[in-house]
Amino acid sequence: MTWHARIAGCGAYLPERVVTNSELAKTVDTTDEWIVARTGIQRRHVAAEGEVTSDLAYEAAVAALQNANLTIEDIDLIVLATATPDYTFPSTATQVQKRLGMTWGAAFDVQAVCSGFVFALAVADNFLRLGQAKGALVIGAETFSRILDWTDRRTCVLFGDGAGAVVLRAEEGALATDKSGILSTHLHSDGRYRDLLYVDGGPSATQTVGHLRMSGREVFRHAVVNLAGVVHEALEANGLQADAIDWIVPHQANKRILAGTAKKLGLSMERVVVTVEEHANTSAASIPLALHTAVADGRIQPGQLLLLEAMGGGFTWGSALVRW
Ligand code: ACO
Repeated sequence: MTWHARIAGCGAYLPERVVTNSELAKTVDTTDEWIVARTGIQRRHVAAEGEVTSDLAYEAAVAALQNANLTIEDIDLIVLATATPDYTFPSTATQVQKRLGMTWGAAFDVQAVCSGFVFALAVADNFLRLGQAKGALVIGAETFSRILDWTDRRTCVLFGDGAGAVVLRAEEGALATDKSGILSTHLHSDGRYRDLLYVDGGPSATQTVGHLRMSGREVFRHAVVNLAGVVHEALEANGLQADAIDWIVPHQANKRILAGTAKKLGLSMERVVVTVEEHANTSAASIPLALHTAVADGRIQPGQLLLLEAMGGGFTWGSALVRW
């Protein structure tokens, strides 16, 4: 039997505390003007003390299930993308599974940093296509505030905490391009670029958690090239032109990266969902957060074609083409 995956609903969760650029400028040598001009970011949400990644993920998962009009009984797979797990192990996904009362199926984490959501979506899509699961929760959840060096102005102003989730349902038959579902996913990685974006701690190498380190300018350069490449790849694989895309739902790293990628593709910024002003870069959570925002405010409508794309540490990068 042939199967395909359809997105049945989405949800999001943001920690209550909002930190503005001006607030940051009181503790680190920066200004609101610099941050807005270079990144577009105006504010970010930061998790409360004791609030961990699985807390954020759980709330997003509950919201996604509600939005899909489904219950945990309909789910037999949880794939959670994060680079900031609660603990080294067990996986954050299993903690979300426990809180949702799911004692069947499988739950595990996927680690591809800012590309994590696209990687997790591809994994879950493949499970459903193969008939190995009937319903999946795909979650992106991060507490990057815990791995930032709050004295390093080059990195600490760029990130925020949050979570987003989608519910996938397996449906019988091959997916026609005009029907709602995941049309394709494409994933890439190239470990040679590790030193441009990494965390300088970890259980095996240093027995510490570490802090995020980044060569911003170099990452920027690679991001625009890789993201435009992966969008072309998705279009070509589906026999489509760029103007067929109704919405680009990109990983929200930086407004200038979003504008640079759109320009390279000849697409207007009006067709790009931008949430980086409000959320900053929430790594694996940024795409489902952006998706939820544009669905909730009515921009994304049934039948529209969405292109999800991301790039992150590793380097990792990828896309998912979705008919909403
Ligand atoms: N406030 C004020 N000044 C700053 C700040 C800050 N927060 N950060 C850096 N500066 C200073 C630098 O010290 C430097 O000063 P100097 O010339 O006196 O040495 C000057 O600003 C320029 O620094 P650059 O790093 O060259 O600035 P650039 O224009 O490249 O902007 C930025 C930096 C915003 C990080 C940019 O490179 C960028 O967006 N890169 C992409 C990185 C990214 O988004 N990564 C996210 C993870 S990967 C992903 O999600 C795709």
